[in-house]
Amino acid sequence: MLAPGDVQVAPSILAADFGNLAAAAGEVATATEWLHVDVMDGHFVPNITIGPPVVASLRRHSGARFDCHLMISEPARYLEAFKDAGATSVTVHVEVGGTGALVATARQLGLGVGIACNPDTPFEAVAPFLADVDLVLAMTVFPGFGGQSFMVEVLPKIARLRAAIDGLGIETVVEVDGGIDETTARSVAIAGARLLVAGSAVFGDPRPWEAVERIRGSALRAIAEGAARGPS
Ligand code: DX5
Ligand code: ZN
Repeated sequence: MLAPGDVQVAPSILAADFGNLAAAAGEVATATEWLHVDVMDGHFVPNITIGPPVVASLRRHSGARFDCHLMISEPARYLEAFKDAGATSVTVHVEVGGTGALVATARQLGLGVGIACNPDTPFEAVAPFLADVDLVLAMTVFPGFGGQSFMVEVLPKIARLRAAIDGLGIETVVEVDGGIDETTARSVAIAGARLLVAGSAVFGDPRPWEAVERIRGSALRAIAEGAARGPS
């Protein structure tokens, strides 16, 4: 999903103008192949956003990789609909349960697969699935709303995910989501994250494509500086 050593930003359209999503997708298309789509059902999280019809409509205007973050209680009912709508990958929360079956179904459908965990969900809840998925998403806010503050206490879990994935010799991408900007991008990149979701910091900027470049650059510089310093 990502070249080794690379970092990418997935702009979250939750922070874009929902009346003009095609334009928002276009604003970041030169800066990243990714687009993060936040799907909320008003049950797993206290907010309602986007479903398969909107994904299908947006697909007609964008060739981006749609990283669909399913913050919903019954993802099994909707995986096929998201595939048909043009999702590239679906990420399901481990808190909803049945993770093994969800991962298998998404794979059978030909989707990229991710698993997500809330800030207070331990590493051990996702560890058994790391070799079976393309992405592991560590939430750095409690899901439901954009514009929340980054939770620094999630950094040790990100580092544990990085170490476990490297230890297994697999390519699973560590993704983070919530409160990511140029500053927090450094911390999560040093901890081991490589796919950075950013909503407000991208679409709150008058030039979203430049915000993507800045966040990515900040993360890549932090990693390079860490490598130059060597192990501490
Ligand atoms: C939060 C969503 C995020 C959100 C991030 O529940 O999963 O993807 O859009 O927004 P920012 O970057 O504003 O914290
Ligand atoms: Zn998200």
